[in-house]
Amino acid sequence: MDKIEEAIEILKKCNQEHIIKFMETLTEEEKENLIKQINSIDLHQIIELYDNAQKPVEIKENKIEAIKYIDKEKLNNNEKEELDRLGESVIESGKYAVVTMAGGQGTRLEHTGPKGTFKLDVYGKGKYLFEILAENLKEANKKYNTSIPWYIMTSRENNDQTYEFLEKHNYFGYNKQDVILFSQAELPLMDFDGNLLIGKNKLINLASDGNGGTFRMLRKSGALADMKERGIKWVFIGGVDNALLKMADTTLLGLAISENVQIASKSIVKADPHERVGVFCKMNGHPKVIEYSELPEKMAEEVDSKGELKYGESHIMCNLFTIDAIEKISKENLIYHSARKKNAYLDEQGKLIIPKEENSYKFEAFIFDAFEFFDDIAILRGKREDDFAPVKNKEGVDSPKTAKELYEKFWNKKENSEIK
Ligand code: UTP
Repeated sequence: MDKIEEAIEILKKCNQEHIIKFMETLTEEEKENLIKQINSIDLHQIIELYDNAQKPVEIKENKIEAIKYIDKEKLNNNEKEELDRLGESVIESGKYAVVTMAGGQGTRLEHTGPKGTFKLDVYGKGKYLFEILAENLKEANKKYNTSIPWYIMTSRENNDQTYEFLEKHNYFGYNKQDVILFSQAELPLMDFDGNLLIGKNKLINLASDGNGGTFRMLRKSGALADMKERGIKWVFIGGVDNALLKMADTTLLGLAISENVQIASKSIVKADPHERVGVFCKMNGHPKVIEYSELPEKMAEEVDSKGELKYGESHIMCNLFTIDAIEKISKENLIYHSARKKNAYLDEQGKLIIPKEENSYKFEAFIFDAFEFFDDIAILRGKREDDFAPVKNKEGVDSPKTAKELYEKFWNKKENSEIK
């Protein structure tokens, strides 16, 4: 069987006849490229992921317990200083690195370009999200007299734009040799009826495979080897879209060291039982984050003896791992979830369709699914107003407007030295 017949056979078997029709609109060269791509994709895996997306997620309540945490605010001065000292010694000795996950599509924000290139309208002049992150790291570098290596995970879609943007802005004054870009893996997008989407480039539309892909790509790209060469022992992994993200929190790092664990995370208390965030728990004895959509209502509202939400510690993409933990996870297979996204596509006639509503599944591994490979995690409860200013939606909650307000309030408070 030749390559064309082989591809057509696979498409028929996987109910993707719309692509066979679409091929009629292509030139010989375009057709060849598409065939090549189809033969390189594991379509059966995508069909399986689509089938899984149709099934309800089942959670057995009796296997879930609340997780323990330390509230940063309730530490006394001595306790806090002791943890800080532990954390500081790691950073000062050059054993600390940071990874920014910037491979997302940012579909909800509707910004054209990588999310890190979005300018938040703060203090009149505005600041780009990458600039805010660079400032946070530069502040740590100054404080601890070091230069923290900064790894930025991009996607095929946004890698070039990210690189050009950072070059143009001279890495916001960060040491260029300490900024390392690497790209993540991809999976095809599929509409809600199980049809693969065709992209503007007349190929099957691929998108980054979720932030859980970070670990494997750190290893595959050589970034992990680079970290080892630099003598890194602890790695912070965070998102690109939290304007109050603290990437060098010595209390969190100190807590992880003092509790002798390989992973740690900062949480904040859920604003209300139904806030759309993932919460920490222990499932079958292992740390886990349950997505808001997967947490039964009764559990979401459950309170403990102190009247606090039993499952109230929300995950804010503020995670720490030892280098060994990253190596271990990088060899595991994380499960894929299906995220509902708005993605433009070409129809059978090759016409560009820009949907107004979510129209497709993006199959994503989530970073927090890595926690299950460990027996324990150190959790430090931070404060919403100090630690969390997400830029997710174009308007309303978690939007540039709310992030600007939180960012300015925090920095005004800090400048009046209420926060150290
Ligand atoms: P989100 O899940 O909020 O997705 O990412 P997003 O792509 O930024 O935005 P929407 O959902 O399309 O509107 C949380 C963090 O994980 C990163 C994002 O860049 C962000 O820092 N991420 C997400 C990746 O690095 N790769 C992915 O495939 C997905």
